[in-house]
Amino acid sequence: QGQPIETDVLIIGAGPAGASLASFLASYGVKGIMVSRDSTSAETPRAHITNMATFECFRDIGLEDILRNISTPIDETDHLLRWCLSMAGRELARRYTLQTTPQRTGEYKIASPCEHMDLPQTRLEPELVRFATLNGFQVRWDTEFRSMEQGDSRVAVDLFDNVTKQIFSVSAKYVFGADGAGSRVMRHLQVPMEGFPSTQWAVNVFLKADLSHLMKSRPSVLSWVLQPHRDHADFNMICVVRMVKQWDEWVFSFLPAPGAKEELLSKEQYLEEIQQVIGDDTPVEITHMSRWRINEAYAAHFSVGRVFCLGDAVHRHPPAMGLGSNTSVQDSYNLAWKVAYVLQNKANPRLLDSYSLERQPVGKHMVTRTNEALRRHVPIFEILGLVSPSVSERIEALSLLSANSETGEQRRTDFQAAADACVETELNGLGIEFNQDYSDSPAICADTSDSAPAKPALEGNPDPVRFHTRTTIPGWRFPHVWLNKAVPGKEISTIDLAGKGKFALFTGIGGGVWKEAAAKLSAELNVPIRAISIGYGQDYEDLYGDWARIRGVESSGAVLVRPDNFVAWRHGKAEGDETWATAKLGLVMRKVL
Ligand code: FDA
Repeated sequence: QGQPIETDVLIIGAGPAGASLASFLASYGVKGIMVSRDSTSAETPRAHITNMATFECFRDIGLEDILRNISTPIDETDHLLRWCLSMAGRELARRYTLQTTPQRTGEYKIASPCEHMDLPQTRLEPELVRFATLNGFQVRWDTEFRSMEQGDSRVAVDLFDNVTKQIFSVSAKYVFGADGAGSRVMRHLQVPMEGFPSTQWAVNVFLKADLSHLMKSRPSVLSWVLQPHRDHADFNMICVVRMVKQWDEWVFSFLPAPGAKEELLSKEQYLEEIQQVIGDDTPVEITHMSRWRINEAYAAHFSVGRVFCLGDAVHRHPPAMGLGSNTSVQDSYNLAWKVAYVLQNKANPRLLDSYSLERQPVGKHMVTRTNEALRRHVPIFEILGLVSPSVSERIEALSLLSANSETGEQRRTDFQAAADACVETELNGLGIEFNQDYSDSPAICADTSDSAPAKPALEGNPDPVRFHTRTTIPGWRFPHVWLNKAVPGKEISTIDLAGKGKFALFTGIGGGVWKEAAAKLSAELNVPIRAISIGYGQDYEDLYGDWARIRGVESSGAVLVRPDNFVAWRHGKAEGDETWATAKLGLVMRKVL
């Protein structure tokens, strides 16, 4: 026992949520402690897809290149989703995914200077922990959260040290519950979880098997293996096979048969089943097996007093759409600058209230949509007859796919349409990755331009889950466009001019008063505001004309961007002198902070 250890921040959990929060905080100069019940970072890959919006967060703290080097690029030769009867057997359909979809490649390129990457959690987490520890965080493994008590200015937390087998106490100004789907912190806070009770469970079997002979001609990172011809008491006839490493490491996700006992079977039973799913006698070595539940739950709110929860602790959902780790990292990116500003006396602690207000709707939407994406697979099973309990009926239903009949023709059309619907929502959700709307937050100011649009930002977007809306409307993610310097040099993205713990104010020709106002307020409020002018003869030039098309204000107008790259406010044009601009911008800065 003894005296409690004092720290500004205590992070409970060192997964994607906790370790990224520690990294972002450390990059802003905040020091603290992170604890994890486990003895090390993730032992199984789980999350793979790291999307562009998440890479933008890592890019901001200089981690993008390091992480890209340990990722598998998503390129057109391998990023396919397919349905087949076994890994070696007949294929029923293939679809391109993400930025490899020929019809949509351009949209992904326009959206971000980053790319989607295949980055397993086993590689991501150690890099985050390393970054955080090298920049001011102390990490304690084998250390479990037990209980906490909130006071007016600090939180007293009891932790169990699994090495010494003793409880010790930490006194922190702020505590962060990033302790995953079984969150003890959330239970302790008694925050209600909303959504639906989990009804389905699954088993992940991690294995080594060199399938290059199969994958060379049919490269695919995700295969839905459907085996209607088989009857098995323990397994459903569907297995999802996910590439971990090309092409010799895999995770096989089994859905147990209805009514099967919720427990792991023996290694031998899984080996037998895996061999059937592969469809030939390739040697297999099982490295790990684990059970997990398919959840549809989100917290009613993400914070209580001085305790803030993030990641799977507050949103629990299936892996469809690959958004879990991504949303967890983005939760922490939203939270980190606010915590740093409050600890550094740059902002009122009430700024922290905006975390839950901004992120809870994002978490809720993600949970709902990922479950819907999973359900989009059901029509495929129905069309292929997989829902019938009789093997002969299932075989007959499948044979209709190649039948020379009207029913066969209809079956083929329905199946291809169902495959399209599936992949469009499950793996081409560029919109859901980018279209996050914080416009109702107290840390955002409405557009004060005379010509502020009356229409909501998403008007005209035919499907906000699939399509990205690029806008500078306050509350929306600041859009990327490439800019140039007047002298020869590399292009730079607008998002690289923002971030890094600073506010950024974008203006153009005729907007000099904003630059003066930003400098004055920066000194007065002790808050970094970087002012950038874009246009001919300005700090950066807009040679493609993309900034002019997207900025939503006149060239002398102002777009203010928060440190987390969300638009805080905008104003149509300069309408007065420096005193006028300082008063206008000052009001906004004080409201946001
Ligand atoms: P996570 O569970 O990862 O970490 C929790 C941390 O808290 C651990 O360090 C643990 O030790 C610690 N902890 C727990 N209890 C504690 C206690 N009492 N005291 C102290 N520490 C405690 N996501 C994605 O973005 N893209 C993808 O492609 C996929 N794919 C995918 C596939 C499969 C099969 C699964 C199961 C999941 C995915 N995901 C995904 C989801 C992703 O894995 C998940 O959303 C993140 O791991 C959540 O990160 P967290 O840090 O919130 O929790």
